[in-house]
Amino acid sequence: MNFHIVTLPGDGIGPDVTNEAVRVLKHIAEKFGHQFRFEQQLIGGIAIDETGSALPDETLRACLNADAVLLGAVGGPKWDDPRAKTRPEDGLLAIRKGMGLFANLRPVKPHPALAFASPLREEKIRGVDFIVVRELTGGLYFGKPKERRQENGHVSAVDTMEYHDYEIRRIVDLGFKLTQTRQKKLASVDKANVLASSRLWREIATEMHADYPDVKLDHVLVDTAAMRLVTAPASFDVIVTENTFGDILTDEAAVLVGSMGLLPSASLGAGTRGLYEPIHGSAPDIAGKGIANPLGSILSAAMLLRHSLKLENEANAIERAVDEMLSEGCRSADIAREGEQVLNTSEMADEVIGRIR
Ligand code: IPM
Ligand code: MG
Repeated sequence: MNFHIVTLPGDGIGPDVTNEAVRVLKHIAEKFGHQFRFEQQLIGGIAIDETGSALPDETLRACLNADAVLLGAVGGPKWDDPRAKTRPEDGLLAIRKGMGLFANLRPVKPHPALAFASPLREEKIRGVDFIVVRELTGGLYFGKPKERRQENGHVSAVDTMEYHDYEIRRIVDLGFKLTQTRQKKLASVDKANVLASSRLWREIATEMHADYPDVKLDHVLVDTAAMRLVTAPASFDVIVTENTFGDILTDEAAVLVGSMGLLPSASLGAGTRGLYEPIHGSAPDIAGKGIANPLGSILSAAMLLRHSLKLENEANAIERAVDEMLSEGCRSADIAREGEQVLNTSEMADEVIGRIR
């Protein structure tokens, strides 16, 4: 099969980890007899430096013509001035919106060999295997008005949390559908005791439940969900929630597995075209040193194969290889214990590649 993949390495450790994920994908192509054509484009801080825009038109155009997009990370102290006109993060929001990627999937499944690295006790981590479905193109991130105001000698700022029924319906539906291949438990997270948008969300989720009678639907308030993620994380199967709640809960969920460096994500829209990125940030302090953990990016490449290219066996081959190398003690700095041998970024990828069958 023939596929066109756009890579957006971005800033900080983005290029370090994306390079390794591409190497793994090239190995997959060779091993399984596919043709992958890679095209690199700019996003984030580096795009601001080179073109003045965090998402150049050419980048968006290339992504809209690709079968899938693999992104590294955006941002860094260089572009952090709060008064700057454009920020690297604007590029990320613009590409999500521009590609119509309304759903962000973040699976959370700690590897047993890394349970020690979790801030939670090992017995709490046992059996944790859930996926967060985060709404990605609505809510506070995009709602209008979104502005600063000057009034009577005071400054105020406003953001708007707005959701339309169709935005809620398509993301909750994806949540229900995902449970079908899993434990058939859906936690719809909202703040319906306070927010009007959450009350609409809950009303629609309740209504849609009629189409999925075999699924156990729970409405969980976001504060309770934050608490349950640390007290009983194994109780979750699929969590579906709006943009900001999902942003916050997925960072909390990510640390459960021991390192932010391990987790992949997929951003999907109506078709099969998607954008895949590790959930970690640009980690500017270790950028270019070749020591970042590439597994989040490599596992994102596996999700790319599964969701956009429909290459399930190839995706499984990568996930199995990562599983094995972790079981056999391969460690980057972020997940190593004292005295353990530490591998650098490309050595970690080599260990994955060597185990792909
Ligand atoms: C994420 C990130 C982004 C977000 C930032 C970098 C804009 O935190 O993907 O979770 O808030 O969505
Ligand atoms: Mg976030």
